[in-house]
Amino acid sequence: MNLSLSTKTNPQHTLILGIFEDGSLTASGKALDHAEKGLIAQLFKNKTVSGKCGECFPVLLQTTKHQPAALLVGCGKAKEIKESDYRKLITAAVKTLNSLQIKAADSALTEINVGKRSLAWRVKFHAEVSMEALYRFDHYKTSKDPVHLQKLSLLIDTKDQAAAKIALAQGTAIANGAAYAKDLGNEPSNVCTPSYLAQQAKVLVKAFPSIKLNVLDEKAMEKLGMGAILGVTKGSAEPAKLICLEYRGGAKKAAPVALVGKGITFDTGGNSLKSPENMVGMKYDMCGAATVMGVFKAVAELKLPINLVGVIPAVENMPGGNAYKPEDILTSLSGTTIEVISTDAEGRLILCDALTYCERTYQPEVVIDIATLTGAVVIALGFHATGLMSNDQALADDLLKAGIDSHDRAWQLPLWDDYQEQIKSPYADIANTGGRSAGSITAGCFLSRFTKNMRWAHLDVAGTAAMMMGTSDRMATGRPVPMLVQYLLNHAGE
Ligand code: BES
Ligand code: MN
Ligand code: ZN
Repeated sequence: MNLSLSTKTNPQHTLILGIFEDGSLTASGKALDHAEKGLIAQLFKNKTVSGKCGECFPVLLQTTKHQPAALLVGCGKAKEIKESDYRKLITAAVKTLNSLQIKAADSALTEINVGKRSLAWRVKFHAEVSMEALYRFDHYKTSKDPVHLQKLSLLIDTKDQAAAKIALAQGTAIANGAAYAKDLGNEPSNVCTPSYLAQQAKVLVKAFPSIKLNVLDEKAMEKLGMGAILGVTKGSAEPAKLICLEYRGGAKKAAPVALVGKGITFDTGGNSLKSPENMVGMKYDMCGAATVMGVFKAVAELKLPINLVGVIPAVENMPGGNAYKPEDILTSLSGTTIEVISTDAEGRLILCDALTYCERTYQPEVVIDIATLTGAVVIALGFHATGLMSNDQALADDLLKAGIDSHDRAWQLPLWDDYQEQIKSPYADIANTGGRSAGSITAGCFLSRFTKNMRWAHLDVAGTAAMMMGTSDRMATGRPVPMLVQYLLNHAGE
């Protein structure tokens, strides 16, 4: 779908109009109602439309019988429209238009006030949400749900054109980055292996020459002494990869922002084998990696004036005769020794070597890791908030703010020293699990042992990167691409 801005409606297009619960309309709605001699007011009066949030009603006019002249979209109470309501009503409008097989539309939903959000914010969010509403992952389906809507123009005033143009570019880039992350996440693990991720990274850098790629194979990792990554990959027939991306759009000497993404292409739990029920959904265990790649795509598309590096340990976690076992002791790249209590706590093992490599290779200004790390974060925060932990409150605050700005939110958990007790080992420097209590925090504590010399934040996205409500509506979400791109936009001062 092509997204654009327009300062006037096109009579060939269907006009998307908001209607509130009390029957009131925004400027474009009032204009149409006036031109059609109170038609909309009549529809409200005879209760054909209610204005309930997300309820859609196509309006046919005598003059344009071939397609609805307008789509009325319920917005609820004018003074109480929240971000989630705005998402709901845009999604409903776009899906309804598409199911009506409409090809082109103009949206006046930009006229709706959403709390204190600016017009630029509404344009950006509208762009993101409408692209998301038409997202498909159907190349394995023999019968597909086609996309009919080809063109969507967001209506704005002439005076807002400059700000809206920037907002549209940002929203489109965020949506493209998130869709790319979703594509990678939704791909099954018999296709999406560590080598596939490395191959996709190659395709990405081909499309964006501003990004450089370096892939380390197992031999290179052995030479460096990445005992933790190599421990996890031992049971897999798929070779592990360490995928390193570099984007330099900022000052030559400026230290980069670093993103480290967990890339477990499938997590069986290894010899600490997961139950069959808990194993479904584990193809999404590389969504941290997918997020990093999605952010790179968006940043390259926007040509942001920043330096960014990405490090992705891509590994499959399998059980078997060659696999690592509980009570094995691994020596990480940092030299810290780790007693493996559970081979299912593999994410922190691949991340610790990637974080050390990141520190040594790039000396980043800040490092943010993104990982579907613990089931415990789903118990704590559900599917709505990403778990955030950090050793630097200013960085944590920046990420929380970016989450609010983008409406892709995180919630902070403490990393107090008290919790470090739980990952003590009688045999090694640390153990890779800390018991059932505070499972997300002890995972964060584990990572904190490898990031002491960096400003570091950890995003546990086990609940947010993919929705696993039922079996039929499982899908990658593309989160937290919006939050991180927003963080980088704020960082760049854009
Ligand atoms: N990939 C899982 C975490 C996960 C669970 C992601 C559910 C998405 C949904 C991770 O590798 C894992 O298995 N974590 C264990 C840690 C435990 C053994 C300390 C967990 O959460 O049970
Ligand atoms: Mn696991
Ligand atoms: Zn995992």
